Amino acid sequence: MKIFKTKQTLQTYQKKLREAKQRIALVPTMGALHEGHLSLIKEAQQIADVVVCSIFVNPTQFNDPSDLEKYPRPEENDLQLLQAIGCDVAFLPTVEEMYPKKEESWHLDLGSLEQVWEGEKRPGHFQGVTQIVYKLFRLVEPDVACFGQKDFQQVMVIQRLIDVKNLSIVIHICPTVRSEEGLALSSRNIRLSEAGKHKALTLYRSLSHIKRYFKIRKLNTLQKEAFDILQQEDEVEVEYLAICETRSLQEIERIDPTKKHVALLVAWVEGVRLIDNMLLD
Ligand code: PAJ
Repeated sequence: MKIFKTKQTLQTYQKKLREAKQRIALVPTMGALHEGHLSLIKEAQQIADVVVCSIFVNPTQFNDPSDLEKYPRPEENDLQLLQAIGCDVAFLPTVEEMYPKKEESWHLDLGSLEQVWEGEKRPGHFQGVTQIVYKLFRLVEPDVACFGQKDFQQVMVIQRLIDVKNLSIVIHICPTVRSEEGLALSSRNIRLSEAGKHKALTLYRSLSHIKRYFKIRKLNTLQKEAFDILQQEDEVEVEYLAICETRSLQEIERIDPTKKHVALLVAWVEGVRLIDNMLLD
């Protein structure tokens, strides 16, 4: 596996790949890799000749400085995992490399995506995400880029970035990888105790309940039942739970059979913010 830490070395290699007409896939991550991330790499290996995985804890997308500070950075272990799975290129730049001093300010019009759910709860977060992903797109010039359904709104935002900037990159959405019991894998889960992980399973139970009864129950009854499931565990604090249309992410009042729907959920367990979702149709 090639490991690059500077934009220049990566770009020199990227040019060679292009000359050799290689199809390139990019998998952007912030490291602390787990099976969820690795599933993206495996997927990328199916659809491209060369897989580039970036590991960069991007400061501009954290609106809580202590969250940025606490973010795990097990670099050696990450590299071993990538090597073992046969990833071709790992890109691990420093903050100075990605954000040189004379940085132009960044703003992308994200429309209503910035006003709802993660957009509303984490002001500036998606500006930071699109800022770094655009830099990575321009550097790597991938044919495809893989993102996890786990961060559903992020996928919508990246698609918007591609549309606004008119990029010819195909987004590949990979299903959420869960523990055997159903907890969505996340780099943040290592901050949960065993008891916390157990409590966190209510997120999956609640979402599964919505999926199971989506076309059967009245929406407000269903939403109340899903809330009740979350309340069964003390110390699970719901930030939002909403049944939305997948494109606009607007909460629905009734099911439109011509559209697709998703249940979005954020809850706190032991001071850890957990995000999950489930497609309903
Ligand atoms: P990070 O949280 O490290 O996630 C990297 C990618 O892995 C994202 O596309 C995310 O949706 C996916 N992922 C995380 N957990 C997953 C799971 N359990 N199953 C499937 N996919 C999963 O998302 C980011 O980093 C950053 O915002 C980034 C896009 C890298 C920009 O900085």
